[in-house]
Amino acid sequence: MNKTSIGIEPELGSYLASVNSSPSEVQRQLIDRTAELGRRAGMQIAPEQGEFLATLVDLLSPTFAVEVGTFTGYSALSIAGALPPDGSLLCCDVSEEWTAIAKEHWELAGLSGAIDLRIAPASETLADLPADTVIDFAFVDADKAGYVEYYEQILSRLAPKGLICVDNTIWSGSVIDESDTSVDTEAIRAFNRHVADDPRTRQVIVPIGDGLTLIRHA
Ligand SMILES: C[S@@+](CC[C@H](N)C(=O)[O-])C[C@H]1O[C@@H](n2cnc3c(N)ncnc32)[C@H](O)[C@@H]1O
Repeated sequence: MNKTSIGIEPELGSYLASVNSSPSEVQRQLIDRTAELGRRAGMQIAPEQGEFLATLVDLLSPTFAVEVGTFTGYSALSIAGALPPDGSLLCCDVSEEWTAIAKEHWELAGLSGAIDLRIAPASETLADLPADTVIDFAFVDADKAGYVEYYEQILSRLAPKGLICVDNTIWSGSVIDESDTSVDTEAIRAFNRHVADDPRTRQVIVPIGDGLTLIRHA
């Protein structure tokens, strides 16, 4: 059964998958390769989310895109595959092991040249960007405790018509479960409140995948 979006029953998920644009051959291979990692494979975004990200990137035509949290590279494949010819994607992750799988599949898709992978805590990679760097598009999908910092770092460099997409902001519905006070759940709640209270931006949570917040300048 394919991974699907929150609140979508498996049968309906299968129907949606049958009428949505299909993942590319390399994306399918990457889904299968990632499944070999077992439980960890649950970190990969759903195919419809990859298609959604690709749609946004295609429409926005970003010159410089950033991804925080790459894992085995599915979201990066989706984003990089939709970039304009002069576009590039900076990927931030801390795992050599998982991103080795990503690099293999970016190569297979002919996208290696468009992707710059940096292995380091994302807050360091973002802080080290040249002062005049402008970010046109960002996808954040890493450690939840870092979300507010990533948001602030990216927002400070966001192009006037730029977009920040942040994953897992519904967190399987745990955001409204008052008995759940785990560190990650509290971090997602704190992030959602931080953005909601920020007069600099406008945002909407799209219930695709595990919740995807789209954020732009107010
Ligand atoms: C949910 S997975 C990303 C899934 C990916 N977007 C995809 O489509 O498959 C989260 C990733 O964040 C990475 N990560 C965790 N802490 C990090 C940090 N401080 N800086 C950068 N990446 C981090 C993990 O190594 C993991 O690969």
